[in-house]
Amino acid sequence: MRRHQLDIQLKTPDQIELMRAAGLVVAAALAAVRDAVAPGVSTGQLDAVAESVIRDAGAAPSFLGYHGYPASICSSVNEQVVHAIPSREQVLVEGDLISIDCGAVLNGWHGDAAITVAVGDVRPELLRMATVAEDAMWAGIAAAARGAANGRGRLTDISYAVETAVRKGGRFGIVDGYGGHGIGTEMHQDPHVLNHGRPGRGPRLVPGMALAIEPMITIGSPKTVELADGWTVVTKDGSVAAHVEHSIALLDDGVWVLTSVDGGRGRLGDLVTARQPVDSPSA
Ligand code: MF3
Ligand code: CO
Repeated sequence: MRRHQLDIQLKTPDQIELMRAAGLVVAAALAAVRDAVAPGVSTGQLDAVAESVIRDAGAAPSFLGYHGYPASICSSVNEQVVHAIPSREQVLVEGDLISIDCGAVLNGWHGDAAITVAVGDVRPELLRMATVAEDAMWAGIAAAARGAANGRGRLTDISYAVETAVRKGGRFGIVDGYGGHGIGTEMHQDPHVLNHGRPGRGPRLVPGMALAIEPMITIGSPKTVELADGWTVVTKDGSVAAHVEHSIALLDDGVWVLTSVDGGRGRLGDLVTARQPVDSPSA
């Protein structure tokens, strides 16, 4: 069988430091957006919050203008899964579940991350879904770290770990047709990272790889449709979805979660590279 030849950009430790700087800008933007989420706030306002944090840091919003995308974040509310365009007309109400995806480019290097946030009081099963999505993302990151450390990891070990964590968490749909990706001097690079599948396939996990790990799950069906705006992806059955994402780098002594302020240490402990300053800035 002939396979598509993957073009995986391996980063030097110095380049990974540059990606860390971009990742921290994304982390700061998302933290500000998280704080701004409340009933009565529009997704357009959230977009303005993210853009100003990114620009104040001397970075640029990487989504803005990407294939013509008109904003700095994607703000996907309830049955919107990903790539929903923020607007001043879309006002959050108590009980909404919103996923905010944000990217920044700093000195030519990209960061990309997403969070899922409850608007006020949210149905427990939706909160549970958001927790499962997070747990699955961290399971995928841990699998990447272990695979790079022991030298036997393959890309789909991440996919398998994400899927296993979602299945363990309950009956959720794993969104079809979307997944994570390589990241570096472009927001989207090879390889594509599926959120499901058998382990032990695909390219080897090696130091220098940088990946965005991004589970997307739903309370119902994994099927989605794209709206006529050419961007917004919604669930086919109208069920609510959650999306979380981190950009990570693999080093020879562990993983660095570039878009997490603590580098991932809180969730991953010793799987995190010792190279990360322990007193990393708390933004
Ligand atoms: N983080 C998103 C992803 O990896 C990127 C959205 S790009 C934009 O799919 F088109 F929405 F800008
Ligand atoms: Co992404």
